[in-house]
Amino acid sequence: MLGRSAELAGATSITEVDQSARALAFASAHHSGDAAKHHYIVADVFDWLPGLADAELYDLVIVDPPSMASKQQQIPTVLAAYRKLYRAVARHVVPGGAVVAACCTSRVERPLFERTVREALGPGFSLERDLPPEPDHPVGFAQADYLKVGIWRRAR
Ligand SMILES: C[S@@+](CC[C@H](N)C(=O)[O-])C[C@H]1O[C@@H](n2cnc3c(N)ncnc32)[C@H](O)[C@@H]1O
Repeated sequence: MLGRSAELAGATSITEVDQSARALAFASAHHSGDAAKHHYIVADVFDWLPGLADAELYDLVIVDPPSMASKQQQIPTVLAAYRKLYRAVARHVVPGGAVVAACCTSRVERPLFERTVREALGPGFSLERDLPPEPDHPVGFAQADYLKVGIWRRAR
């Protein structure tokens, strides 16, 4: 779905990486207007990202993983995965470009997520916007406030 949003926002080349061939087939069938703009890659992103050439740079990288922890004991592992992911992503964003960092792991609360992403992206990035959940996800009690989205801008 984000691929379609990117296309509607004017992206002319959209690369979507997912380890699920089924998810990408669904995206291809339902979430692309101009198929020529979409490139689908079935891969584990932790394997794929380190293999990217240094010269491969993107204007915008959207990191939208699933919830990664159901138990408190898993949090250190999840944070290590986020660090690995954002360190790798930081190397492939053009100056002036951005990273959209999404997190739906409820046990990783907003300040911890922000701190983790900030440290992993490094001093070249700053938090431009911290978005609240959309109106279709009302937050009526503390535990419902688990959807976190930050827009991080790389300095020019
Ligand atoms: C929240 S969904 C992303 C939805 C997507 N942004 C969209 O708009 O359709 C999370 C996706 O991450 C994928 N995923 C989970 N672990 C992954 C990994 N290690 N490498 C690549 N994809 C992974 C899942 O298959 C799932 O489709």
